[in-house]
Amino acid sequence: MMLRLDRVSKTFRTGSFGGRELHAVREVGFEVAQGEVVSLIGESGSGKTTLGRMILRLAAVSEGSITLDGVDIARQKDYYRSVQGVFQDPFSSYNPIFKADRVLEMIRQRFFPSMGAADWRARVESSLAAVRLDPGGVLGKYPHQLSGGQLQRLLIARALLLDIRMLVADEIISMLDASTRIDVLNLLGELKGRGLGILFITHDLSLGNYVSEKTVVLRSGRVVEMGRTELVFGNPLHPYTRNLLGSVPRLHRRWSEEEDAPEEEATCFYHGAAGRDATWPGLVEAEPGHFVGCATSGTCAPALELVR
Ligand SMILES: Nc1ncnc2c1ncn2[C@@H]1O[C@H](COP(=O)(O)OP(=O)(O)OP(=O)(O)O)[C@@H](O)[C@H]1O
Ligand SMILES: [Mg+2]
Repeated sequence: MMLRLDRVSKTFRTGSFGGRELHAVREVGFEVAQGEVVSLIGESGSGKTTLGRMILRLAAVSEGSITLDGVDIARQKDYYRSVQGVFQDPFSSYNPIFKADRVLEMIRQRFFPSMGAADWRARVESSLAAVRLDPGGVLGKYPHQLSGGQLQRLLIARALLLDIRMLVADEIISMLDASTRIDVLNLLGELKGRGLGILFITHDLSLGNYVSEKTVVLRSGRVVEMGRTELVFGNPLHPYTRNLLGSVPRLHRRWSEEEDAPEEEATCFYHGAAGRDATWPGLVEAEPGHFVGCATSGTCAPALELVR
């Protein structure tokens, strides 16, 4: 099973009369295969959650397409049996007056209305076992009686009740303390081993590096760099990625060293074609499996390729 995004954009209308446009996601394209973790990384406001919400059909796509096995997700019946999300703040995901078993029971009512009690019980127990939660320890409890890590794992268990193929995990680690983080990260690794495709949204690069085989770096809604994680982390090409990684901007130095570095390449707004209407030229494959893009200031992907 393959989730594919093709030039996906999201424009919000803002301002009192919807007169202003906010381009939250711009022409984003990548794939998540089963058994693969893809990290989506970028600073606050870069469009990560908006992208996750579009994949989960919680927000409409403005332009472009999202497909699962080649079929537009908007036209998929039973989509949520295959794709589920787990979000940042586990506390807000729960109604505070629902005990944990009721949260899970809602899945039964909606997706397995005719399943018998014994079968359902077995299903719940195997889901909880997969996230290493003890049924007796969590089921009869209210959200405030559980730890952040337990809640996050309960949400994952809830998604697993559905035999999902894809999981969108939006900042599920950030709220957790260091030791619980490792638990949940290892859990994601296990789920991957069971064939799940995971889109792991985080602003914490080290977490992305730890779990994912592919990394997508988002800036102002646009992919600036993406590819195999070891390439993006080991040889970051875009200054934005380097900043995120806290590394020295080698690029800058090279440009100032090379007298003949063309000025317009250093100030690409799409190959120096100034003006807001310039079309984004897309990503350049700088090395096999490693893509980098032009930016609105300071970076031209073809120029990056030159200085490598
Ligand atoms: N419903 C909405 N209406 C208008 N603007 C929105 C809406 N949702 C998000 N935005 C805007 O879209 C941009 C991207 O927001 P988004 O929540 O996707 O960022 P993010 O990368 O998830 O950030 P964070 O790391 O803080 O969670 C922001 O400028 C945000 O203000
Ligand atoms: Mg977010």
